[in-house]
Amino acid sequence: MAEKDKSKNLTTHRKWIEGQGIPILSEFSVPNLKEVKVGSWERLGAYGAFIVLDAVEDINDAYVLEMSAGSSARAERHMYEEVVYVLSGRGASTVWNEGGPKRTFEWHEGSLFAIPLNAWHQFFNVQEDKHARFYVVSSAPLVMNLFHNLDFVLNNPYIFQDRFDGRKDFFNAEGQEMAGRVWETNFVEDVRTFPLLDWKERGGGGINRLFELADSTLTCHVSQFPVGTYKKAHRHGAGANVIIVQGQGYSLLWEEGKESQRVKVDWKVGGVLAPPNMWFHQHFNTGADPAKYLAIRWGSRKFPLFKNVGERGKVDVSVKEGGNQIEYEDEHPYIRKLFEEELAKNGVQCKMPPTKYNK
Ligand SMILES: [Fe+2]
Repeated sequence: MAEKDKSKNLTTHRKWIEGQGIPILSEFSVPNLKEVKVGSWERLGAYGAFIVLDAVEDINDAYVLEMSAGSSARAERHMYEEVVYVLSGRGASTVWNEGGPKRTFEWHEGSLFAIPLNAWHQFFNVQEDKHARFYVVSSAPLVMNLFHNLDFVLNNPYIFQDRFDGRKDFFNAEGQEMAGRVWETNFVEDVRTFPLLDWKERGGGGINRLFELADSTLTCHVSQFPVGTYKKAHRHGAGANVIIVQGQGYSLLWEEGKESQRVKVDWKVGGVLAPPNMWFHQHFNTGADPAKYLAIRWGSRKFPLFKNVGERGKVDVSVKEGGNQIEYEDEHPYIRKLFEEELAKNGVQCKMPPTKYNK
């Protein structure tokens, strides 16, 4: 196909990211976001790299943003949502509506926040000797491809007062508890230490918290599971960016009916993977510490969007009952066998209860 024809088939978003002049990583998973090579990003006056995980299917995207020591990124606003996880460093963000008061809050490694839709925002690295690095998940592909008009998306005067009213404590107020382990807030100071709650249905002695941030449609959750355990397999729609924030282990991912083609992704802190649409996936802790991950994804409870994500995906209900989870007693013996082999390599004891096939 001629070059000209090829570019015709690219989405508006793809053409845009290719025009940004920074590296584009297209991978199934990335072993360490802190080590991804970034390039000079003129538009933001910073450094960056797009992370196009194979499985997100153009419904959200992600990028690494790096600000060198003592520098700030250029202010911008846009008609797509962004959720920011701070991979390293320390600094501040200022957020405002055109003509409105500026609100500034400080962040550090482990912080999580969302940019209210189309609000101006600017990031500052306050460290004089170290760079600061973010992982940002956005809804840019969905929005850019739908409107296919970059001026509308990147230069739009509409103010979403319902999302951000400029109030003084917008990013500092105490959050509020909602039903079902949900914490509604606009800023989580450190997802690595935020208290989590039991979620027995997903197995492995796991604890979890869901965050609703800045009335975004993009949402996130943190899950932790103990040493020597693994979670139950489940499946849901595409677009979950699973970032490892603590521990080490691996995930298995497979499509129903293709169990012999399971993909194994080994992970440690700083890694990211995205389970493909409706593929089963299962997370295993093989390290000496509890394993913890942050998933930035669709599936807000306040603003549900797609079928098969969040609660609409019945992610903690057995497939036998019409849900999308494989209970321990129904899993293939290979799952436990591999886990025990992997634990043995690290000298860690299996803490999973016996199953019917290994008694
Ligand atoms: Fe999942």
